[in-house]
Amino acid sequence: MDAIDVIRAKRDGQELAPAQIDWVIDAYTRDAVAEEQMAALAMAVLLNGMTRAEVARWTDAMIRSGERMDWSALDRPTTDKHSTGGVGDKITLPLAPLVAACGAAVPQLSGRGLGHTGGTLDKLESIPGWRASLSNAEMLDVLASAGAVICAAGGGLAPADRKLYALRDVTGTVESIPLIASSIMSKKIAEGTGALVLDVKVGSGAFMKTPERARELAETMVAIGKDAGLTTVALLTAMDRPLGAAVGNAIEVAESVEVLAGGGPADVVELTVALAREMLDAAGVAGKDPADALRDGSAMDAWRTMISAQGGDPDAPLPAAAETHVITAPAAGVLTRLDAFGVGVAAWRLGAGRARKEDPVSFGAGVTCHAKPGDAVAAGQPLLTLHADDPARFERALESLDGAWEIGGDGGPAPLPLIIDRIA
Ligand code: URA
Repeated sequence: MDAIDVIRAKRDGQELAPAQIDWVIDAYTRDAVAEEQMAALAMAVLLNGMTRAEVARWTDAMIRSGERMDWSALDRPTTDKHSTGGVGDKITLPLAPLVAACGAAVPQLSGRGLGHTGGTLDKLESIPGWRASLSNAEMLDVLASAGAVICAAGGGLAPADRKLYALRDVTGTVESIPLIASSIMSKKIAEGTGALVLDVKVGSGAFMKTPERARELAETMVAIGKDAGLTTVALLTAMDRPLGAAVGNAIEVAESVEVLAGGGPADVVELTVALAREMLDAAGVAGKDPADALRDGSAMDAWRTMISAQGGDPDAPLPAAAETHVITAPAAGVLTRLDAFGVGVAAWRLGAGRARKEDPVSFGAGVTCHAKPGDAVAAGQPLLTLHADDPARFERALESLDGAWEIGGDGGPAPLPLIIDRIA
């Protein structure tokens, strides 16, 4: 087979044959298809799309490019959640131990932040001693003892996607629904989970800016899951404003611990419980209500066991930034808008995120939001606290918050509902 024939076929709007897809993914993984040829094919896919059969085969070929994990040694069903990423999205932290406390096992392979959206591993690494890299045997041990594990994906998992994602990142081909859907689903299916719940974010702080695009992505991923025999459900959820009050690393861990202790911001609690119910349902586990597991301390127990099993000290003080800057309300009124993208970029510029994959993050940096859209505020009341190790970072962070919030005389435009839709 020849890469040029495959590129020409997709360029001309034809459906690729299964053998063509298998060949091109395998050859690309082995470096037998050149980067520029794969870039041309990715652009042809972005422009001409893929049929359901093509996406299913493409995903399957990427799964077969590496190992497939197996949790059949566990005595309970596995279930996982994937979020398409957002600002203040710390849900995985309370969710994984919560679901474990309710009787399912959660093998959660997570990523790091890039750009304005945070990464679960960066957040957890702010806990002294906590380790993101585990061998498969260590993952199984943590899963067996704590019921949940959150760690980095090893290099053997969907290596075709690893290469292709890096290429798409530099060739303007990230924003293709078939390529995003197959990229996410190949890793989740190779991870070996028995059920999957997708949290597809919608709004300025998300990949998908409109409910229509988010629905298309969710439907494509749910179809891939079904075609692979994996029970898959998606929720479309709001990312027009930050989730919860904390946006950063250590401050998001602290907020997650508040949720596990039975408190925390109402939106974080509502989404955590809704996703937990979906995960348990998809795994066929009944008998315990996640809201009870937050109240009775069992979710907190699972969190402490999971963090300790990965070398972390759940009682250690979390890192704090050296400097703070407070933005106050210039007048009394209602906070009518708090834009997720603006706050995410501010947190990133304060040091919570990275511009390049190899950059370090500041654990203490970030933004605390003291009011949510719809809240009444008094003149002089703190709206946002900026945290940074270096005060020189405040200026650029403040620039990104310029126009990102608004105080008006009434409620303003209605924010998106927290849970917009469910796709199964
Ligand atoms: N996340 C992924 O894993 N892949 C994509 O293509 C986009 C987001």
